[in-house]
Amino acid sequence: MLDLKKIREEYISKLNSKLNLLQVNQLKADLLGKNGLISNQFKKIGSIKGSERKKYSSELNNIKDELLDLINSKINEIEISDINEKLQKEKVDITLPERPFLRGKIHPVSQTIDEISSIFSEIGFSVEEGPDVENEYNNFTALNTPEHHPARDMHDTFYLDEKKQKLLRTHTSPVQIRTMLRDKPPFKIIAPGRTYRSDSDQTHAPMFHQVEGLYIDKDINMGHLKGCLNYFIKEFFEVNKIKMRFRPSHFPFTEPSAEVDIGYKIKDGKIIIGEGDKWLEILGCGMVHPNVLKNVKVDPEKFQGYAFGIGIDRLAMLKYGINDLRAFFECDYRWLNHFGFDPLDVPTNYRGLSR
Ligand code: DAH
Repeated sequence: MLDLKKIREEYISKLNSKLNLLQVNQLKADLLGKNGLISNQFKKIGSIKGSERKKYSSELNNIKDELLDLINSKINEIEISDINEKLQKEKVDITLPERPFLRGKIHPVSQTIDEISSIFSEIGFSVEEGPDVENEYNNFTALNTPEHHPARDMHDTFYLDEKKQKLLRTHTSPVQIRTMLRDKPPFKIIAPGRTYRSDSDQTHAPMFHQVEGLYIDKDINMGHLKGCLNYFIKEFFEVNKIKMRFRPSHFPFTEPSAEVDIGYKIKDGKIIIGEGDKWLEILGCGMVHPNVLKNVKVDPEKFQGYAFGIGIDRLAMLKYGINDLRAFFECDYRWLNHFGFDPLDVPTNYRGLSR
């Protein structure tokens, strides 16, 4: 009995000191191995007599269990602390500093096209598109501009083949032809997009943007054209009053044809639309020529209507105070940051239409 108590106390105190795994296993072997102190005590049981034997063996079992529990919890403790130590030492830093977040801006031309599209869609125009590479027929012939017509020279066309069959469209007017060839009247469309002419200075770029308008029905007249353009200009420039004048002009695809000027003045270096006595040309228009309607198999005895072509870049420059057209297409981020639009900043006359 005495032996047992001694062993117990001695080993509890040993197990409670700071040990590594090897040392704990050694203590375990000392106690419970083949010739371990506890194992040897079990061998003694046979020689103990009477009631003492039961008492002794129960005592021995308790001590054995107690020490074994202590050993196991010690091993467990050491293993966990080893793992934690390893985790600390071998820690890999998987965090990464966030990349700088650059928010894009909407180009003033895209913004202007969106605004124009939403203004016209309010009064029932739908939006059409056509390809930048056109054929000669859609761009000229079908628009009543036959070969050798002087209007062809005025367009400084980029031809794409020697036979002059394929070209970069010089205006958005061929979308009129594509739409009318494809569908049946009535037509009420606008067609914004890129156009090309071999021309470059402060107010001309070889690539620029137009928006075409076309309204064909049974009784559409010039009064409707005037009302539509009046509404558009007021909405676009966000003014209640505008000065607008129709100047007689010539386009092969309209008869009569007109160019439209709007009145403006400059105050403190800023353009004010709708006041003053200066005039600025912003678009060409007219009543669609019967020959154009015939070319697309629409009966000019039954249908008539108007068309117009507006220079988008010019409108954007006017509205947003940009004075060099070439800057639009130089892809200078500093310029775009300054003049571009925040995609989340909805302009006042924006009606939620997106191209
Ligand atoms: N296509 C013409 C141009 O680029 C603009 C134009 C004028 C379009 C009159 C039209 C129109 O639809 O009716 O100069």
